[in-house]
Amino acid sequence: MTQPTRWVTDTKDGHSHWYIDRFRRMAADGEDLAGEARLVDAMLPRAARVLDAGCGTGRVAAELHARGHVVVGVDADPELIDAARADHPGPAWVVGDLSELELADLTPEQGPAELFDAAVLAGNVMVFVAPGTEAEVLRRVGRCVVPDGFVVVGFHVNRHLALDDFDQAVGEAALRVEHRFATWDLKAWHDDADFAVTVLRHR
Ligand SMILES: C[S@@+](CC[C@H](N)C(=O)[O-])C[C@H]1O[C@@H](n2cnc3c(N)ncnc32)[C@H](O)[C@@H]1O
Repeated sequence: MTQPTRWVTDTKDGHSHWYIDRFRRMAADGEDLAGEARLVDAMLPRAARVLDAGCGTGRVAAELHARGHVVVGVDADPELIDAARADHPGPAWVVGDLSELELADLTPEQGPAELFDAAVLAGNVMVFVAPGTEAEVLRRVGRCVVPDGFVVVGFHVNRHLALDDFDQAVGEAALRVEHRFATWDLKAWHDDADFAVTVLRHR
């Protein structure tokens, strides 16, 4: 990895461990952790191929797998990928940096390289990428998606990454904004919203 992510530089020691425990507790308590996956699922044909980019402990990928999609989760944090592997057999899990992502990294050893129908960056992934890598991350993820596929990105605006800067990165990545909402259950976007869910397509 050329540059550490903000997930490493801007969090305290033990953060990954705390995060894994937190999501395991929420799952055990029956909390709804699948809102993002429900939206992505609704936008896809059945048995689609989905890339969960910055998958963390794998909650989004796991739900998409349960809904019949073929899912690969990739994250730079090996501790989170270990937790995803332990908790959610089914999707393929890969340790990797999105700013250096190649389709070949996501392809089974014997299999052909196959593009994804969609990619999802949920839970503030764009806020946690290394500073200055936003456009490269979007470009690399976009290159893993079929020409008529989509990339959907959700993050809190104005936490490291202003929406205008995100939109500029989208353009630099040869993508375009198709839709923007304020929540994963599609509440309308408004300028005071503190969260943005953006659907991107290839330009
Ligand atoms: C708040 S977590 C969200 C995890 C997951 N998407 C979810 O919603 O449950 C943000 C994740 O982004 C990952 N991340 C940030 N920059 C990354 C990069 N350049 N490559 C891969 N993963 C990255 C972090 O390692 C972390 O797991």
